Amino acid sequence: MNNLLEAVEASRRFRTEAGELQVLKDINLSIGAGEMVGIIGASGAGKSTLLHILGALDRPSSGKVLFEGKDLAAMDDDALAGIRNSSIGFVFQFHHLLPEFTALENVLFPGLIGGRPVMEVRERATGLLEELGLSGRLRHRPGELSGGEQQRVAVARALVQDPRIVLADEPTGNLDTATGNDLFELFVEQNKKRGTAFVIVTHNAALSARCSRIVEMADGAIRA
Ligand SMILES: Nc1ncnc2c1ncn2[C@@H]1O[C@H](COP(=O)(O)OP(=O)(O)O)[C@@H](O)[C@H]1O
Ligand SMILES: [Mg+2]
Repeated sequence: MNNLLEAVEASRRFRTEAGELQVLKDINLSIGAGEMVGIIGASGAGKSTLLHILGALDRPSSGKVLFEGKDLAAMDDDALAGIRNSSIGFVFQFHHLLPEFTALENVLFPGLIGGRPVMEVRERATGLLEELGLSGRLRHRPGELSGGEQQRVAVARALVQDPRIVLADEPTGNLDTATGNDLFELFVEQNKKRGTAFVIVTHNAALSARCSRIVEMADGAIRA
């Protein structure tokens, strides 16, 4: 399988008042194109920090992250912004939708920022929202949607640029079990249909069991 995203000896240290804290310790992890990887581990294990580093939202203190074989650290700000906008999608535990804009507008933004033609982005965003079961909610604002609907809008936003990979940090953590299962099902469907790779941090063992590979983290390291 082609390596899409790869951490090589990646470490992350934070300076705190209590001294230096090593949160990630020499992480080696490759995600192949179209893979579906679950990340599990106790709270504080470093899962979110790893996801941020993989998604170029944060940089490793040492070691590197390669996207399609290219070292993220060697890229200039424009190249990095381009990757974050079009190649990697993010879904967080809380949707982070813009409250004053409609569901459709929230999904449109990454496409418009990416500079694609408005009509094309609108068509893609509408199609995705429909596919995710939100055809009747295009003009609703986030505050007018249920938690599960808000997360589905966030998923549509993550997918609108047709990224190679989606990084999801406890995306079902704020949802009841049935709604969380439905959301996970959408990930599986998109993975099959478009070959989008997913890396999903989850506490839910039943959900992680649906991934093709499970990576367990403990104390900043990957457990063998
Ligand atoms: N910016 C930061 N500064 C200092 N410590 C941090 C920072 N971010 C995370 N940490 C610490 O790193 C550890 C791992 O955090 P995190 O990656 O959020 O874990 P998880 O997502 O597995 O719960 C925690 O002990 C957390 O307090
Ligand atoms: Mg976390």
